Amino acid sequence: RVPTVGIDIGGTKVMAGVVDADGTVLERLRTETPDKSKSPKVVEDTITELVLDLSDRHDVHAVGIGAAGWVDADRSKVLFAPHLAWRNEPLRDALAARLDVPVMVDNDANTAAWAEWRFGAGSGAEHLVMITLGTGIGGAILEAGRVKRGTHGVAGEFGHMQVVPGGHRCPCGNRGCWEQYSSGNALVREARELAAADSPVAHHILEKVGGHIGEITGPLITELARSGDPMCVELLQDIGQWLGVGLANLAAALDPARFVIGGGVSDADDLLIAPARDAFRRHLTGRGYRPEATIVRARLGTDAGMVGAADLARLVARRFRRAN
Ligand code: BGC
Ligand code: NA
Ligand code: ZN
Repeated sequence: RVPTVGIDIGGTKVMAGVVDADGTVLERLRTETPDKSKSPKVVEDTITELVLDLSDRHDVHAVGIGAAGWVDADRSKVLFAPHLAWRNEPLRDALAARLDVPVMVDNDANTAAWAEWRFGAGSGAEHLVMITLGTGIGGAILEAGRVKRGTHGVAGEFGHMQVVPGGHRCPCGNRGCWEQYSSGNALVREARELAAADSPVAHHILEKVGGHIGEITGPLITELARSGDPMCVELLQDIGQWLGVGLANLAAALDPARFVIGGGVSDADDLLIAPARDAFRRHLTGRGYRPEATIVRARLGTDAGMVGAADLARLVARRFRRAN
């Protein structure tokens, strides 16, 4: 029952943690994600450094990676990542060669869903859909304790469903993707646009960042919304409404019992979830004549991707020990 390391590589930050068998985080480290313009090797260097650092203080037997990208059916390659430099990147083998322990690679939202099902807000749900709102939107489908991966490993890429024809450009190559309207990036983009337009509602946030529009971040918007700033409350409402619209579409397609909402934006709690529930009810097909899924916030918060990666690595390491 030795601890394993989980690493969550998002578009903005990398979180690494030592996690024990019941999901408790024993130590965590955090750093910025290397810029997209840097080579994939730079991200691998970052991961290696974090693992070596944690290994100084913990006996690490396996490493799990939750990566913000499209992981292939063998869970070895990252085929594509809209917010990172990975293109057909053999991530698992590259890391296993450097780390000398079994390495598990999966999509970040899949690992988050796993963690919430094992230890959090997804517990007991037969059919669960996880949505993470961070740089982009991550998605995962979990049925009877199994992550549904599709034929090629990339099921659950809900963030790239089109919700606005001809809408905002997305780094996936399309326009109008859901994550352009309901994510941390969308929230920050809208706030900065209001600030740049010198909108009267933006004066408070502009004051907070001393006029430096580039310093407006998601956590700042959430903090101001909590203290009642009308612009920030409204922006979170917009994000929440788009969230609800997407969830209604997903309910039509998948009919889960529960939606679990995680990622950095979910820190806003009811400021996000209440408008999402509202919009969900208004957009659900056949509303009034069908049982409705519940919408809950992730209990592990932004730790979910990391905790799930560590827990999945534990399973992989066990199989590895049996086989050798
Ligand atoms: C990517 C997903 C990822 C999500 C959250 C999306 O843009 O396509 O693979 O899970 O962002 O990081
Ligand atoms: Na996924
Ligand atoms: Zn897209």
